[in-house]
Amino acid sequence: MERALVLDTVRVTEQAAIAASRVAGKGSSDLVDQAGTDAMRRVLNELDIDGKIVIGEGERDEAPMLYIGERVGKGDDQSWPVDIAVDPVEGTGIAARMITNAVTVIALAEEGGLFQAPDTYMEKLIVGPPAASKVDLLWPVAANLRSLALSLDRAVDDLTVVILDRPRHEELIRKVRQAGARVKLIGDGDVIAALAAAVRGTNVHAVMGIGGAPEGVLAAAALKCLGGEIQGRFKPRNGTERQRLEAMGASVDRVYTTDDLAPGNQIVFSATGITDGDLLKGVKFFKNGARTHTISLGFQSRVVRFSDAIHLLGEGARVTVHI
Ligand code: FBP
Repeated sequence: MERALVLDTVRVTEQAAIAASRVAGKGSSDLVDQAGTDAMRRVLNELDIDGKIVIGEGERDEAPMLYIGERVGKGDDQSWPVDIAVDPVEGTGIAARMITNAVTVIALAEEGGLFQAPDTYMEKLIVGPPAASKVDLLWPVAANLRSLALSLDRAVDDLTVVILDRPRHEELIRKVRQAGARVKLIGDGDVIAALAAAVRGTNVHAVMGIGGAPEGVLAAAALKCLGGEIQGRFKPRNGTERQRLEAMGASVDRVYTTDDLAPGNQIVFSATGITDGDLLKGVKFFKNGARTHTISLGFQSRVVRFSDAIHLLGEGARVTVHI
């Protein structure tokens, strides 16, 4: 299943990124989200899958499409049964303002291969392969940074930790800086930050702090393919979220690992840049065409693929290709 779907999945995020990019920079989060969601759903429905959205745009009554439980794909006898996690525009606010690191993201797995996390918060600790299993969400921040530095054979001062720029992170930011590491504050988008932490050469070494729980599952799918690690603890914002979490069989006391959040054995992940970022370039438009930059991953197929694609837009379009 996985091998058959890797390239199809790339097409899903490429088309969603092109559509969202068309309306990026126009100041409307709703517009980019709508464009990305429409395009993603259109391409998903062309695929040989019998797909169920397990992480999506919201519950059925909150989202017109790609809602949790929605069926997508051709859904015939030849189709692969899959569970799907999507974020058609990860970082709607940054895409609307054309700030860096907005992406479109999808993960597919066999049925039951992705944890059905409710729409609540999650405290996260994310590191790349060298530090996997050498850090612990329950340890003090300074201890994790020391261990991370050791695994990367460098000093704590040479580490960069990505943290969402939110008032709730004041104390965490202070602790990271006090330990000697640098803090890179981001406006939105901790999924692509997770990938950046798992890829050397990005100058991102860890992601810490509280972000969306659904984004934690998407990050887990990618980190499982890349050999990195996420540890996450649910942080419901209120009693309703806590009840919903418990009703879904999740616990606030437990630290969830990469394998808990992405237990599948056949996982496909793809992310395409909407705006330029640490790992991916954003979509560029030119006469009759667009250029996209994508990272796609397969757990079984053990492939990490960066694709730089030129798309001819419009009937009979011709483009001059530049390298
Ligand atoms: P979007 O809903 O615009 O995609 O925002 C994404 C995001 O920044 C995630 O990357 C992050 O996990 C979450 O929102 C943080 O939530 P909040 O903005 O409420 O702090």
